[in-house]
Amino acid sequence: MSGIAILAIDGPSASGKGSVAQRVAEALGFAYLDSGALYRLTALAAQQTGVDWSDEDGVAKVALSLDVRFEKGLTFLAGQDVSTLIRSENIGVGASQVAAFADVRQALLARQRDFAVVPGLVADGRDMGSVVFPDAQLKIFLTATAEVRAERRFQQLIARGESADLAAITRDLQSRDERDAARKEAPLRQWGDALLLETSQLSLDQVVECVLSWWKTRTET
Ligand code: DC
Repeated sequence: MSGIAILAIDGPSASGKGSVAQRVAEALGFAYLDSGALYRLTALAAQQTGVDWSDEDGVAKVALSLDVRFEKGLTFLAGQDVSTLIRSENIGVGASQVAAFADVRQALLARQRDFAVVPGLVADGRDMGSVVFPDAQLKIFLTATAEVRAERRFQQLIARGESADLAAITRDLQSRDERDAARKEAPLRQWGDALLLETSQLSLDQVVECVLSWWKTRTET
């Protein structure tokens, strides 16, 4: 990993970390790792091969042998385009279940590190700064209040023409935050050396600008 610049971004569900990380990666000309997608792909692959999400050994084997390809913004599993499928609510539930297993996390470790290529990588996800890339030059914990995150998700669903219930989304985010923070493996937490970026009052453009300016300061001094 030496000589390769790493910027790690973490934060709660619907904090916008995926959009921010992708935009920052583009601006810097870096690769982008959506680590959550790997957990989602593992859950999907397990489901497709009849491995129960509660079977730690079985799911870890699935994770080790994942046949994944990321290309032009699309995600392929064993040659099949699953970009939309892995974003479903059901696979999200499976991903959060399998991500709680230490053996599954271990199985995905090397694969995640392989994304680090010259000149650099923006890595998005739970343990990017604490476990996968502990030597990252910059670690950011991106957050916003549950109300603001729920409102953003609500607007996204409406824009896609889907029906949405703001109160239900807010409740769901709050219980997901609690579950994520309480779990033993890679709990949701702002690690000691991560900088906090509270985005409730900021637009996506402003958040991207802020991350880029922190990166510049961090890497030019
Ligand atoms: O960010 P996401 O919703 O796509 O992540 C899917 C699930 O995987 C979610 O429950 C968080 C978990 N996850 C994780 O435990 N570690 C990561 N590095 C990324 C995601």
